[in-house]
Amino acid sequence: MSAVVSTGLRHLLEKISERLAAAGIEAPGVEAEGLLSAALGDVPRHLLYQEEREITDDEQVILEQFISRRLAGEPLQYITGEAAFRLLTLQIDRRALIPRPETEGLVEVALRLMGSNRQALVLDAGTGSGAIALSLAVECPQWRIVAAEISPAALELARENADRYDVGQIEWLEADITRLDFWRHLPPLDLVVSNPPYVTVEEWEELPREIREYEPKVALVAGPRGFDVISALLEGASTRVKPGGLVVIEIGDTQGDEAIELARINGFVDARVAPDLSARPRFLIALQRRNYS
Ligand SMILES: C[S@@+](CC[C@H](N)C(=O)[O-])C[C@H]1O[C@@H](n2cnc3c(N)ncnc32)[C@H](O)[C@@H]1O
Repeated sequence: MSAVVSTGLRHLLEKISERLAAAGIEAPGVEAEGLLSAALGDVPRHLLYQEEREITDDEQVILEQFISRRLAGEPLQYITGEAAFRLLTLQIDRRALIPRPETEGLVEVALRLMGSNRQALVLDAGTGSGAIALSLAVECPQWRIVAAEISPAALELARENADRYDVGQIEWLEADITRLDFWRHLPPLDLVVSNPPYVTVEEWEELPREIREYEPKVALVAGPRGFDVISALLEGASTRVKPGGLVVIEIGDTQGDEAIELARINGFVDARVAPDLSARPRFLIALQRRNYS
């Protein structure tokens, strides 16, 4: 495999892109921009096309390391250390799952249903990098948010992300959301929003190597049928969501019927599934009807 020979950044971009494409990477142009921008010390992407300058030797060494890591299967965001999510640029590394575009849609659904102008107490269950909790805090400054996470490492990353943004209204909790005693200690909630693990053990084995070898398994896998966390989450939420309050949960696109049934069994009403931007049924929405005891 040939090393990068620099004759201006635009030409360099083409060469990186060709190497990524040859390795079967799906969006080689965008990823080439990401790698080069990061290797040059986070040069804004549009300047990659305007800058006249050549790459320095030191930058070229870093770039070559980044390209090698990408060609070995490491996801772009773990290499650059950043992931875009709605209005945010999050710091990201292997301590947490890389936030996905469909989860931006989950936040959109929650905001649309709740209306952003009222006061609300919201739980982000399984916060990972903090993507959902931080988005809600930035986009709805009057909401108070509890962000719970079982992985201490992920929670540490979420807190680091919180330091990047001037948000004081999030309480970060290391907790297991599948335990009923976690819910018992929460105040009544207006909204539970969650992107929980929902992949089956079998599906995990079929996931691309990029995911299996780099992203945390605890963030994705939820038992033999993928429902271990969703099911406990609905049971817990049923005890703490206020009458008229909502749960909005990301699910797999084949899980809709069973997720609706689980919501009903746990006393929620108007349970339905909303589509993501690719029209796949991905978001369970349910309303709390009854008083909890
Ligand atoms: C699919 S990831 C979502 C992360 C982040 N909310 C996002 O959307 O990018 C699920 C998260 O739930 C956490 N998690 C898994 N099981 C949990 C449990 N029983 N209690 C609390 N958090 C859990 C994982 O560590 C992971 O961070």
